[in-house]
Amino acid sequence: MVSQFSVPTKIFSGTEALSILGQYADKRVAIVTDAFMVKSGLIQQVTQYLGTQFRVFDQVKPDPDISVLQQGTATFVDFEPELFIALGGGSALDAAKGIRATYFSLKGKQSIPLIAIPTTSGSGSEVTSYAVISDPIKNVKYPLVSDDLVAEMAILDANLVMSVPKSVSMDTGMDVLTHAIEAYVSKNANDFSDALAEKTIYLVHRYLPQVFENPSNKKARAKVHNASCMAGMAFTSSGLGLVHGMAHTLGALFHIPHGKMNAMLLPIVIEFNSANCDYIRHRYSQCAKAMGLNAISNHSAVMQLVAEIRQLNQRFGIPESLRALGCDINLLQQDLTKVVDSILQDGCTQTNPRAVSADDVRNLLKLIAG
Ligand SMILES: NC(=O)c1ccc[n+]([C@@H]2O[C@H](COP(=O)([O-])OP(=O)(O)OC[C@H]3O[C@@H](n4cnc5c(N)ncnc54)[C@H](O)[C@@H]3O)[C@@H](O)[C@H]2O)c1
Ligand SMILES: [Fe+2]
Repeated sequence: MVSQFSVPTKIFSGTEALSILGQYADKRVAIVTDAFMVKSGLIQQVTQYLGTQFRVFDQVKPDPDISVLQQGTATFVDFEPELFIALGGGSALDAAKGIRATYFSLKGKQSIPLIAIPTTSGSGSEVTSYAVISDPIKNVKYPLVSDDLVAEMAILDANLVMSVPKSVSMDTGMDVLTHAIEAYVSKNANDFSDALAEKTIYLVHRYLPQVFENPSNKKARAKVHNASCMAGMAFTSSGLGLVHGMAHTLGALFHIPHGKMNAMLLPIVIEFNSANCDYIRHRYSQCAKAMGLNAISNHSAVMQLVAEIRQLNQRFGIPESLRALGCDINLLQQDLTKVVDSILQDGCTQTNPRAVSADDVRNLLKLIAG
C-alpha cells in the first residue's frame, strides 16, 4: 500500500496576512466571490492591496453548478488574468477552482496561480484537491478530485469570518468536525492525517461551543478557522467516508446546507460503522479521547462520542432527521434506487472504513428520514 501526504499550498495566517497580496499590485487579478462579499464591503479587505487591474465575478451561489463555472469563465476570457483569487465560503472556493480549470481547458493550461481566502471555517477547500460541483437538473453533487484543483496559496484571517451568522458558523463548524472524524477512521488514514485530525477534533470540540456562546470571540473564531484548514489537509490525504457520500446526494436532493447535513448524518454513520468491528471502534475511541472523553472500553467510548455529537447538534439547533427539518420525505421514496446508487458511487463512500451495501444505505436512509 502507498499513502501520500503533501501540502503544496503555502499557508499565510494572522491578522496582517492579507497584506501579502500587495506583491500582486501590478497583476491582472480575477476575483471569484459571492454577492454578499461585495454588498457587505468585505471584498475591500482584499482589493485594497491590489492595483487597478482586477475584475470581479460575484455570482457564486451556495453549491455552485456547471452554469456558474461557464459564467465565471466567460467573465474572464478576454481579461487574461495573471492571478485568480477565491474569496468566500466553500462554494466560492470550489467555484474558483472550477472556473480556473474551465479557463485552462478553453485557453490551454497556463501557470496562473490561485490564492484561496476562506470566509467561513468549514470546507478546508483552500488546501484540498477537491471541488464539489452540483448538477441541479439531476439533483446530484459531484466531488471532483485532482491535483490541478489545489490552490497555490491560502490566506487565513479570522477577521473575515467574524460576520458569519451563528447558524452558518455551527453548520460549517460541524463540517470541520466531520472532516476530521471521517479522515481519522478512513481506510486511507495515515500517521500524518491522524495528527491533523486529532488536533482538529480537539480544537472544534473546545472552541466551536465558545463561538456559539459568543460569535464575537475572536480567539475562538481563529482556532476554528485554523482547525478547518487542518482538517482539509487531513482529508485531502486520507479521503472521507459515508457521511460525505450520503450528504452529497441528500444535500443536493433536499437543498440542505452541507455542514448541517453532515452533522445530522454523523452519529448515525458512526453507529453503523462501529457495529461489528472492534478496530473501527478503537479508531472512534481515539476521536472521543481527542475530545477529552474517557471511557473504560472502545464500545463505551463510541457511545460517548455519539452522545456528545448529538448533544452538540441539539445545542446548535441542528435537527436529528430530515422529517424534523421539514423535508418532503416522498422525494426520497420517489427516487430511492437513484439515491442509493448515487451514494454507493460517491468517491467519499469508497474510503469508508466499513464496506457498504445497497441494503445498508436503504436502512441508513430510513434512520435519517425519521
Ligand atoms: N472542496 C472541498 O474540499 C470541500 C469540502 C467540504 C465542502 N465543500 C463544499 O463547500 C460548500 C459549502 O461551503 P460553506 O459551508 O463554506 O458554505 P457556503 O460557501 O455555501 O456559504 C454559506 C453562506 O455563508 C455566506 N457567507 C460566507 N462567508 C461569510 C461571511 N464572512 N459573513 C457572512 N456570510 C458569509 C455565503 O454568502 C452563503 O450564503 C458546499 O458546496 C460543499 O459541498 C467543499
Ligand atoms: Fe464537508
